[in-house]
Amino acid sequence: MVLHDMKTIGIVGATGLVGQTLSEELLKMPECRSKDFVLFSSNKMAGYLCDLKGSRSKIESLTEDWLKKVDFWFFATPKWVASHWIPIILNNSDANCIDGSSAFRLHGEVPLIIPEINMHQLTPTKRLVASPNCTTTIALMALWPLHKVFHLKRFWVHSYQSASGMGNDGIRELEEQVKSWSEGKSHANVRNFHKPLAFNAIPQIGHLDTDGVSEEERKLVLESRKILGDANLKIFANCVRIPVLRCHSMEINAEFDKKLDWSGAKMALKSAEGLHWYEEGYPTALEHSKRGTCGVGRLRYDNALDNGIAMWVVGDQLLKGAALNMVQIFQHWMTL
Ligand SMILES: NC(=O)c1ccc[n+]([C@@H]2O[C@H](COP(=O)([O-])OP(=O)(O)OC[C@H]3O[C@@H](n4cnc5c(N)ncnc54)[C@H](OP(=O)(O)O)[C@@H]3O)[C@@H](O)[C@H]2O)c1
Repeated sequence: MVLHDMKTIGIVGATGLVGQTLSEELLKMPECRSKDFVLFSSNKMAGYLCDLKGSRSKIESLTEDWLKKVDFWFFATPKWVASHWIPIILNNSDANCIDGSSAFRLHGEVPLIIPEINMHQLTPTKRLVASPNCTTTIALMALWPLHKVFHLKRFWVHSYQSASGMGNDGIRELEEQVKSWSEGKSHANVRNFHKPLAFNAIPQIGHLDTDGVSEEERKLVLESRKILGDANLKIFANCVRIPVLRCHSMEINAEFDKKLDWSGAKMALKSAEGLHWYEEGYPTALEHSKRGTCGVGRLRYDNALDNGIAMWVVGDQLLKGAALNMVQIFQHWMTL
C-alpha cells in the first residue's frame, strides 16, 4: 500500500479522546498533511464543526455512501460500532482499516500489533489490523526487552488506570465528582465507573465475569498471549481505576526462565525503542502525559520469585496505548 496513491483518510470516532489524538498524530506525518481527512462521529455530533489542519471541518455521520470515497479507515469507536462497520467496509471496498477497539483483537486472522514487538505479522495482503488494549501495550513495552534476553515464564500486572481510559465521558465524570465534593455535596453521579471515582480507587474495570475476573484483566491476559505468541503463558492482572486524568501506571512482577543478570536487565530496558529508562527516580502519570515513550523505573529483584524482577511502568494510554501505536502501524503499512 502506498501513501502517495491514497487520497482520503477516514477517522471514525474523531470526536473521541483517541480519535482526536489520532488526528493530531497523523498530521505530524508530513505526507499526511496533503490528504483529505473525513471525520466521523455518532449522529449526536454529526454536522458540528471541529478544528483540523487550521480550519473548521464538518463532522460526518457514517453511512454506506462513504464506502467508496475513503481509501483508508481508522476506527476509534466503541467496540460495537467497529464490529458493525468494519466487515461492511472490507466487503464493499478496497480500503484497509486499523481498529483501536477490542472488536477484532482476538480474531485469528487479524494481526494484533505493537510495532516494537511483532510488526513482522503485518503482511501486504492483510486488510485489517487491530491495536491492543492500552494496558496491554504499556505493560508489554516494558516486558518485551526483558523477554528477548531472559525469556518470560510468567508475570503479574497491577495497574492504576486513569479516568480518560473511559473516553471523554470518563474525564467529565471525574471532574463533576471533584466539583461536587469541593462544593460539599455528598452525592456523586456515577455513570462510567462502578463507584464514585473522585478520591477513591476502584478495583474493577469493565464487567466482572463469573470467575471474578474483570473485562480489562481478561483483555490483558488474552491479548498479551496473542502478541507474545504463547497461548499458555501464565499471566495475572489486577486492574484498578484511580482518579488520575491521563496515563496508566503499573507495577509489574515477572519471572524468567533464564538466570537474571542485573546489568543485562538494565541494559535491555535502557536501549529499548519507545522506552524511557529512569536510572534514578521513577516515572509518574503527570510527567508522562502527552509523551510517546513509556517510562520504566524502580527496577528491583523480586525475591518472592526465582529469577524475578519488579518494575514500575507508566505510559500515556491515549498515545502509545492507542493513537500513536495506530499511527506507527499505519506508517509501517505504507512501506509494504
Ligand atoms: N481512552 C483510552 O485510553 C483508550 C485506549 C485504547 C483503546 N481505546 C478504545 O478506543 C475506542 C475509543 O475510545 P475513546 O476513549 O476515544 O472513547 P470516546 O472518547 O468515548 O469516543 C468515542 C467516539 O466514538 C464515536 N461514536 C460513538 N458511537 C458511534 C457511532 N454509532 N458511529 C460513529 N461513531 C460513534 C463518538 O462520537 P460522539 O462524539 O458523537 O459520541 C466518539 O467520537 C474504544 O473502543 C476504546 O476501548 C481507548
